[in-house]
Amino acid sequence: MDVPGHWTFLDPVAERLADFIQALPLGRARDVLHGVPLGHPLHPALVQTPIGCWLAAGLLDVTGGDDRAARRLTAAGLISLPPVLWSGWVDWSRLPPAQRRTGLVHAASAVTGALLHLCSLRARRHGHPLRGRMLGLSGTTVIGLTAALGGHLAFRQAAGAAHAEAEFRLAPPDWHPLGETDDFPADVPVRRRLGEVAVVVVHGSDDSWTVLADRCTHMAGSLAAGELIDGCVQCPVHRSRFRLSDGHPVQGPATAPQPRFDTRILGDHLEARPPLDP
Ligand code: FES
Repeated sequence: MDVPGHWTFLDPVAERLADFIQALPLGRARDVLHGVPLGHPLHPALVQTPIGCWLAAGLLDVTGGDDRAARRLTAAGLISLPPVLWSGWVDWSRLPPAQRRTGLVHAASAVTGALLHLCSLRARRHGHPLRGRMLGLSGTTVIGLTAALGGHLAFRQAAGAAHAEAEFRLAPPDWHPLGETDDFPADVPVRRRLGEVAVVVVHGSDDSWTVLADRCTHMAGSLAAGELIDGCVQCPVHRSRFRLSDGHPVQGPATAPQPRFDTRILGDHLEARPPLDP
């Protein structure tokens, strides 16, 4: 499973394709395809439909079930594909090179599986049920391998993981000093450490204080190197925006909230700690 991640010969085509997808004028639909309103990546949720349909069709085929039902399930899987593919491509375009290579092989495999199911549907419709079954089972096998590679991409290569999930657990549980209040100029993100955890401190011009995990939940970019825009901090790597008031993403590709620490001013010092009920 690790092998495609090393296929650097894929980089020129991957880069061009990623630039093309990023330049598409998708507007807010891009965030919907990432899953920002859901608070969860959309692609793994959508992919259940075609996989479920094609698995069910395969079960009917191997158990001598109704061929018409298998045909309908094959067609339903194909009809459900466009949002699955769009959400996958939009997520893929924001990945680092090794993950993009694996993602490209994952996509090629998915398209192959879908084409086999399309051929299966044609064969069934033209009165060749046996050929249709064989093509359908081949397609489902390829889709199974595609799903395994997708799992590798999401978990082993952490393309779908929230990269700041452990920060509350790793930070000291009690109040911890971050510096004198004068050390933090207004509206400038400043990087500090809360024990082992890097955090970004924002002292608002209205004298508000925000301490977020510095490591972006999307792909671990440093928010302290980002910009403040409309009450949010924007990651410099793929431009996810997190609301300062609660850490929630208002612009993808990140879908998970940025961990936000409690703050207090003690004398002339800023202190922070993980929330008691995160
Ligand atoms: S690392 Fe991708 S948006 Fe922050």
